[in-house]
Amino acid sequence: MRIRALSIVLMLLAAACTGPADPSSSGGELYGQFCARCHGVDLGGGVGIGLGTDSPLVERPDSYVVDVIANGRGSMPAFDNTLSDDQISRVVDFIRAEQGS
Ligand code: HEC
Repeated sequence: MRIRALSIVLMLLAAACTGPADPSSSGGELYGQFCARCHGVDLGGGVGIGLGTDSPLVERPDSYVVDVIANGRGSMPAFDNTLSDDQISRVVDFIRAEQGS
């Protein structure tokens, strides 16, 4: 019984590190988990372009941002299999809030 409980805990831990997004994660947490490695923890960019206040993204409509996240673009991976529509809109809200708009 004990071993079983332990293995469930380990499975949950493994899922938290690599697996599907936790449905209750905030936009900021989702950003940190899936986007920060390429776009920077502070949205300043890295592998991917910066997404903060200086970025051309500020001028783009939310529908464009949602589309890039869901379907990918260039070397940016698509997230439609990883994130639900709701989670994608939470990430977009987070990016907008960081941009101060
Ligand atoms: C593996 C690296 C990588 C990851 C992970 C990644 N991106 Fe990107 N992203 C890129 C690259 C590279 C581009 C530029 C693509 C191009 O235009 O060729 C890009 C472009 C974008 C754009 C378009 C910017 C513009 O002005 O056109 C948005 C929006 C974006 N990413 C958001 C996100 C979000 C949100 C996440 C997390 C869900 C994410 N990205 C995860 C690499 C990444």
